[in-house]
Amino acid sequence: MKKKTIALISGGISSEREVSLNSGKQVYDALDKTRYDILTYDPKTDIPRLVSDAGRIDCALIILHGPYGEDGTVQGLLDLLDIPYQGAGVLGSAVSMNKLLSKHLYERAGLAVPPYVVVRRGESIDGSRIVSQLGLPLVVKPVETGSSVGMSIVRAEATLAAAVEKALEFGTTAMIEAYITGTEITCGVLGNQDLEALPLIEIIPGKDHEFFDYEAKYQPGATQEICPARIDAQLTQKAQACALSAHTALYCQGYSRTDMILKDGTCFVLETNTIPGMTATSLFPQSAQAAGLSFGQLLDRLIELGIEVRRRQTTRG
Ligand SMILES: Nc1ncnc2c1ncn2[C@@H]1O[C@H](COP(=O)(O)OP(=O)(O)O)[C@@H](O)[C@H]1O
Ligand SMILES: [Mg+2]
Repeated sequence: MKKKTIALISGGISSEREVSLNSGKQVYDALDKTRYDILTYDPKTDIPRLVSDAGRIDCALIILHGPYGEDGTVQGLLDLLDIPYQGAGVLGSAVSMNKLLSKHLYERAGLAVPPYVVVRRGESIDGSRIVSQLGLPLVVKPVETGSSVGMSIVRAEATLAAAVEKALEFGTTAMIEAYITGTEITCGVLGNQDLEALPLIEIIPGKDHEFFDYEAKYQPGATQEICPARIDAQLTQKAQACALSAHTALYCQGYSRTDMILKDGTCFVLETNTIPGMTATSLFPQSAQAAGLSFGQLLDRLIELGIEVRRRQTTRG
């Protein structure tokens, strides 16, 4: 079989640059060198080179998180250059990056989401009304960042305004959500037309972390991750069905990972990641492993699925 030329794209200019570089290195190590020639690009410096190499690239792996990577921008560039890539296209990436739009689409798909209030920059908030509506604690988050950046848990009305101000440093819109106390899980979905939900992972942030915050996400050992989650078969199936609906509702392709909290049999959907963490020990690769796919085999599959999507789009006429 002829070797494929893969453009491995990592780094970039978002606050998740370091995470991306680390993942990129691990993806490089795991890719099967007998099947692939690998060219590496950092969008911070290498876009002109990517453009000039486009004609000889068979597929790109976008290992970028956050704005200018996971949000449809790089996907749009690759579409223009006619380079297939793994995962969601422009639309699914842009929609999933925006937690508010995502919520609207989850709700339309009949999925449960934590009750919420939206705050836009420049608007004043009525703290006591919000607390009487949503209760305490509250979770305040920017609408367009990932990795828990700019997010706070608010336990008293007096600290709500400061938390909103902090979230609004990261964008023009913030969400205030009811805090859901339950079992946090995440569910990977893999496939194009035939979607498969992967085994659930249960996430238990260590006691030093109020929630699955930035350190809990990236500090080894800071969080306990149990795969498959210790949840009965019926609820497991329900949560997997929610992840499949979320994937479809948000126009995702190829793969995605949906974060959820289970409480009293209800599955509250938090968000869908279109480029989930991609180190060998990240959540999505862990659950793929539990389903029988090694990290290297998962990358093979993502490349295949990416090429298949592009082929379908270009033969649509
Ligand atoms: N409404 C909520 N109730 C309880 N915990 C939450 C809620 N929203 C977020 N969290 C916690 O914060 C973490 C990050 O939130 P999430 O919406 O997944 O954003 P991101 O991972 O993009 O920063 C979650 O994994 C969970 O631990
Ligand atoms: Mg998350």
